[in-house]
Amino acid sequence: MAEIDRRTSLALGGALLPALLIGACKASSDAREHENAQAGGDEQPVTANEDLMREHGVLRRILIVYREAAPKIAANPAQVDAAALATAANLFRTFGEQYHEEKLEEQHIFPAVAKAGGAAANLVDTLKAQHKRGREITDFILDQTRAGRIATGQAEAVARAMLGFTRMYEAHAAREDTIVFPAFKAAMGQQHYDELGEKFEEIERQQFGGDGFDMAVDKVAGVEQALGLGDLAIFTAPPLARG
Ligand SMILES: [Fe+2]
Ligand SMILES: [Fe+2]
Repeated sequence: MAEIDRRTSLALGGALLPALLIGACKASSDAREHENAQAGGDEQPVTANEDLMREHGVLRRILIVYREAAPKIAANPAQVDAAALATAANLFRTFGEQYHEEKLEEQHIFPAVAKAGGAAANLVDTLKAQHKRGREITDFILDQTRAGRIATGQAEAVARAMLGFTRMYEAHAAREDTIVFPAFKAAMGQQHYDELGEKFEEIERQQFGGDGFDMAVDKVAGVEQALGLGDLAIFTAPPLARG
């Protein structure tokens, strides 16, 4: 009888445990939704990888600004709004380097994937070296745009630095999106992954005193407007010239 009771309770436990866990997760997500509703927002929780990848979206918009500006700077630096470029470089510094790279990737993502091993782990040293090179180039762009104009003698070097930076970060972010972040998610396990998603949002609020992503999107949109790059339609490829 004792054996039957034990089996029954194990079977019930097996059936109940997932239900209890789901209940607990739902309670925590209900609490978040309630907090959110109280704050007057309609925000949905953002998962860790969604967070990282949409941050890449902001950084890619800065890369587009650099790539579009570089040939204009090389041709005639006086025709380019250097103050807008300084704002772009500052945004890459505060949002890309000091938050996305230092607080999320270098503290949480890279250690986890390095420990897990495999293809993503093999990329970590190069990714860190590229972060370091990126910071050197951002220092240079900030120095060269700080005065609100780019000196003619530096135009070629600034244009080259922006194109080198863009080329590096396109390859960098694409590897992170397709290899490193999926490996990070696989290494975490669902519960730890969900917890980290919440932790990332908390770090973001601490660092920026609010929703850093929304602030960054607004800022990059302002830079695009200032440089005549605000309309997505200008990027539509021309029709094919069929001969
Ligand atoms: Fe990175
Ligand atoms: Fe990244």
